[in-house]
Amino acid sequence: MKTPDVFTISRRGLLKAGAASASVPAMAGAVAAAPTRAASGAGPSTVTLSVNGKTRRLVLDTRTTLLDALREHIHLTGTKKGCDHGQCGACTVMVDGRRINSCLTLAVMHEGAKVTTIEGLGTPAKLHPMQAAFVKHDGYQCGYCTPGQICSAVGMLGEIAQGIPSHVSADLTASPQLTTVEFRERMSGNICRCGAYSNIVEAISEVAGVKA
Ligand code: FES
Ligand code: FES
Repeated sequence: MKTPDVFTISRRGLLKAGAASASVPAMAGAVAAAPTRAASGAGPSTVTLSVNGKTRRLVLDTRTTLLDALREHIHLTGTKKGCDHGQCGACTVMVDGRRINSCLTLAVMHEGAKVTTIEGLGTPAKLHPMQAAFVKHDGYQCGYCTPGQICSAVGMLGEIAQGIPSHVSADLTASPQLTTVEFRERMSGNICRCGAYSNIVEAISEVAGVKA
């Protein structure tokens, strides 16, 4: 019996036809779902920050992180980008006196804020005590995590001074102790792939005035 023409279509032709018909609704959906630039909230915005004591007025895409604003727009590259996902602490800076992962926050959220980066803590001629202690105790190897470690250490001692407890504070109502156990816990968000942890704790302990 003769096969009708409708069944003689080749396998290749069938696949081509199927792919074409499937892609039309998929593409139509993609076009319909794509947000417009205005609807997504993206676009330039102005933000004024005080960075290391200097007023900086920036025009930024609203999606710009504080980390990228510092590195790419102000060219303060001391603050490092490690993971860009809040997991390593290399991007730690101080905002209004508190340490923060600058990769996890948008620059436009900090209008008028005082930002301190590693460049603002001290100068090569006059190091911050924490910077000097890291040098003295070899608190680094490659140095990539070091700006974040130092900013975090300064902020961490400030948190203890303010009486903010940590996960290892035995009594949440008492003033936190200046101990290496507290330092290690509170610095646990700053990863050092070189493993300079014991020297980092020694440096922090010296600045805190306790025995490591
Ligand atoms: S770069 Fe921000 S936490 Fe890693
Ligand atoms: S000194 Fe190399 S990652 Fe910490």
